[in-house]
Amino acid sequence: MFAPVYLLAILAPLVATQTVPAQLFSSLIPQKVLATAKALPGPIQYPQYTDTSAGAWQYFVPDTWTSGFFPTTLYALNTRKTLCGATPANGLNAANWLTLGRAASNGLIPLETHNGQGHDVGFLSFPFVEELAINPTNQTALTAVKQFAADLAARYNPTVGCTRSWDTADPTDFTVIIDNMMNLEILWVVYGLTGNTTLRDIALAHADTTMKNHIRTDGSTWHVVEYNSTTGTVIKKRTSQGFSDSSTWSRGQAWGIYGYANMYKRSKDPKYLATAQKLATYFLNNLPSDGIVPWDFNAPLVPAPRPADSSAATIAANGLLLLGTLDTANTSKWNNAALNLLNKITALAWRPSWQSLLSNGTVNKPANNFLTGIVYGDYYYIKAGNDLISMGLAKCA
Ligand SMILES: *[C@@H]1O[C@H](CO)[C@@H](O)[C@H](O)[C@H]1NC(C)=O
Ligand SMILES: *[C@@H]1O[C@H](CO)[C@@H](O)[C@H](O)[C@H]1NC(C)=O
Ligand SMILES: *[C@@H]1O[C@H](CO)[C@@H](O)[C@H](O)[C@H]1NC(C)=O
Ligand SMILES: *[C@@H]1O[C@H](CO)[C@@H](O)[C@H](O)[C@H]1NC(C)=O
Ligand SMILES: *[C@@H]1O[C@H](CO)[C@@H](O)[C@H](O)[C@H]1NC(C)=O
Repeated sequence: MFAPVYLLAILAPLVATQTVPAQLFSSLIPQKVLATAKALPGPIQYPQYTDTSAGAWQYFVPDTWTSGFFPTTLYALNTRKTLCGATPANGLNAANWLTLGRAASNGLIPLETHNGQGHDVGFLSFPFVEELAINPTNQTALTAVKQFAADLAARYNPTVGCTRSWDTADPTDFTVIIDNMMNLEILWVVYGLTGNTTLRDIALAHADTTMKNHIRTDGSTWHVVEYNSTTGTVIKKRTSQGFSDSSTWSRGQAWGIYGYANMYKRSKDPKYLATAQKLATYFLNNLPSDGIVPWDFNAPLVPAPRPADSSAATIAANGLLLLGTLDTANTSKWNNAALNLLNKITALAWRPSWQSLLSNGTVNKPANNFLTGIVYGDYYYIKAGNDLISMGLAKCA
């Protein structure tokens, strides 16, 4: 007799009042991803962004920071098949996503021992982490994740308290970008596999140093902090892809929300939860009234329209959903905010005629690379759909 009331009390915070965009589960998603998988160039190259007119993928050699995202997208459709089953209606019956994901991962293996991607070995490791969730004894994937974690650990400088993001001509100029928060996950994964506490301690130190130097008092973030590697002092705080040194680049802010929510998930240290809340609050409070994520929160409104960044929207949505599962006092607030971002970006950027799922990505506005589809924007769109199903907030199509 008490059971239904009790259950309701547990479920109540999970209820989201925003609707779920149907496109998140459209059969066009597997259809487009399969077409891209079949069109991968040989020797293998990976899609990163599209052109601006036809939405056609542009391909890049494996030694590129984004190469892991397309293989990971194939694994994400395998996950969706596990959650939803494969039917003609949902389009997941069109391929064996696991086989495709494994095949597409092969081109990343040489990068374990030699790559030019600095801290982004974390992103390159994503498909191998997915593989281990399916087959924990796959030796190729085990070797890959351990090597990528060692690569990132080798970039740690104890005087600075961070892993180095980008290499610089002057090695004492130690550059760290907010995006680096995303790459810490590989250290946690391998700490979990091997018990090597050095890896965990590097992740904690990097997150603490970044908390101190990358985040402004209002919860906004600098894109780049340059440290002196011999003294550990901050030389400069600036932007690379944002509007100005004092502005807030929205994708960086989104990486930060996800990165700190993940640090809380991993460590259970409440200071990381507070940081993720602070970054998320800034992000949501600084959205324009149309709810479309601008490429930089301080970019000028004129000439209109100020370009959006659909990838910042989908990354932030994933960060908010993760925060929603962890911050149980505010679950429905974060879930609704995530759904709102997904609804608004779907209405603006869902492009059936393009090879990418979404348009309106900003790769790098200062380099004039915007109004494109972006491989990680699409990946985080699909992952958001999967997570909504896992969380009981959406039903399979
Ligand atoms: C093991 O993982 C690698 C990389 O993820 C993949 O290419 C390979 O097919 C997998 N092997 C088996 C036997 O599943
Ligand atoms: C733990 O990881 C660090 C960083 O890669 C490495 O230097 C160290 O040898 C590892 N420790 C063990 C016991 O494997
Ligand atoms: C870092 O500090 C050392 C020692 O003071 C100095 O020689 C070096 O030029 C500094 N590097 C940068 C990039 O400021
Ligand atoms: C979205 O993309 C379309 C073209 O693909 C463009 O016309 C429009 O201005 C963009 N809107 C924003 C807000 O970026
Ligand atoms: C989370 O919920 C608590 C309790 O309702 C509230 O006091 C707090 O302000 C919320 N935090 C955020 C960041 O929304």
